[in-house]
Amino acid sequence: MKRRPLIAGNWKMHKTVAETLAYIEAFKPLVAGVEDRDIMLAPPFTALDAAQRALEGSPVALGAQNCHWEEEGAFTGEISARMLSDIGVSYVIIGHSERRHLFRETDEMIRKKIAAVLRHDLIPILCIGETLEEREAGKTLSVLERQLKEGLKDFSARDLKNLVVAYEPVWAIGTGKTATPEQAEEAHAFCRRILAEMFGADFAETVRILYGGSVKPENIVGLMARPDIDGALVGGASLKPDVFARIVCFGRMK
Ligand code: 13P
Repeated sequence: MKRRPLIAGNWKMHKTVAETLAYIEAFKPLVAGVEDRDIMLAPPFTALDAAQRALEGSPVALGAQNCHWEEEGAFTGEISARMLSDIGVSYVIIGHSERRHLFRETDEMIRKKIAAVLRHDLIPILCIGETLEEREAGKTLSVLERQLKEGLKDFSARDLKNLVVAYEPVWAIGTGKTATPEQAEEAHAFCRRILAEMFGADFAETVRILYGGSVKPENIVGLMARPDIDGALVGGASLKPDVFARIVCFGRMK
């Protein structure tokens, strides 16, 4: 089965509103007419509303980088899925390794966040990935299995029909060290087998599994050539519109 590619940019804690608007103005013409793949940008919370207005009518979807699992309440500093849905967000990145490691997010918190995202008909991008220490100890696959099983155990295939998974090996994030296409494919194929075990083979065949970790215009083609790599979650290289557009447009004749 051919899954529709998704190329997503995660800006992390970068860009003011003015910088976001300048980016979008430059980016939109570079990806105009790209219809055979999905494109998503995830600016910081403060720029989401302005980005939504600026992206109106373009093929670029809007994503958020995190959310809280409650609808509202006394959670100072948090943003709910309900608030994100209200301003036109479509995707929410959940369980990014920076959230897991720097902010101590657990698999249980991640599961609750996915439930909140689904309640509002938003698309969760569940991030998973091993640290260097775990890889060197031969634990990569068991870490991925635990993160998938714990993160998704409350849900049915129907609940998760739009689920996106992002495999982001922690040692490849922001380090310039990309997993080789072989390493990434091994992890992606394994994740698809676990999803098939949990929710059935038909479901697993439809789930898009993105690779993230030092994706650049120079390595996107090799990654996307692998059968189980369905797109990319791009950090640093999504911050410049021309560079990100080259990643988005991989494999197209110019
Ligand atoms: P880099 O592309 O900067 O390595 O970041 C990857 C990432 O964490 C995307 O979510």
